[in-house]
Amino acid sequence: MTAKHTVLQLPTDLKRDQLPKHVAVIMDGNGRWAKRQGLPRIMGHRRGVDTLKELLRCCRDWGVQALTAYAFSTENWGRPLEEVEFLMTLFERVLRQELREMMQENVCIKFVGNLGALPRSLQAEIERSMLETQDNQGICFTVATNYGGRQEILRACRAIAIQVQQGLVQPEDIDEGLFERHLYTAGIRDPDLLIRTSGEMRLSNFLLWQMAYSEIYVTDTLWPDFDRQEFHQALAAYQQRERRFGKV
Ligand code: IPE
Ligand code: IPE
Ligand code: MG
Repeated sequence: MTAKHTVLQLPTDLKRDQLPKHVAVIMDGNGRWAKRQGLPRIMGHRRGVDTLKELLRCCRDWGVQALTAYAFSTENWGRPLEEVEFLMTLFERVLRQELREMMQENVCIKFVGNLGALPRSLQAEIERSMLETQDNQGICFTVATNYGGRQEILRACRAIAIQVQQGLVQPEDIDEGLFERHLYTAGIRDPDLLIRTSGEMRLSNFLLWQMAYSEIYVTDTLWPDFDRQEFHQALAAYQQRERRFGKV
């Protein structure tokens, strides 16, 4: 995203009033992309950052109100130490570099996940960026970092159980609304559309509660190659879907 770019027009075949309000992405395939170029896996992650920046810009220009990206799962700690360390450093560097532009572009950035287990210096950048952008009224950009859907649900259960134990909440008061307020994503609407790149047809522990009724779009394209045209195709496919929510 550059400070003064020409605003991208919404492709004419897309209906503005039928755009997803919230798009979630599982940015997968960085490692395979790098391998195909004969490069180390980390080069794929580096390229993946450019893809995300371009997608954020596209969402903003086309009128998608919220974008959530899966950057690091609770299971990704199981990768080689070198790769994990590279990713943590990359996240920190990108955040530091992009903050000013996100302010200019009115982006409100949020992080979801077990942030307390991230390296201290990364935590500091995360806190700073969330604090500085919290009043921005533009696109809501959420980054899932050290995020796991199961961990998030268990954490909510524990918090509610403590309130029950203290007599602050009655078991019969636990409904979907109360539960959602205990998730990391409290206050963020559920994704309408999930895009996963690199052809894998699974959720990989992403937003398990929130995506109960999200439309799923999978493309074989690897994340570093995912571009505006691909996003256009995903949105066009979304607009063909009939969302029934269990009704007829
Ligand atoms: C996704 O790409 C990025 C992260 C999980 C951080 P991968 O690193 O999973 O790439 P592949 O799936 O191995 O190709
Ligand atoms: C999901 O991708 C996590 C992120 C994109 C951050 P993975 O590559 O970790 O998922 P699996 O292992 O293929 O399920
Ligand atoms: Mg992967």
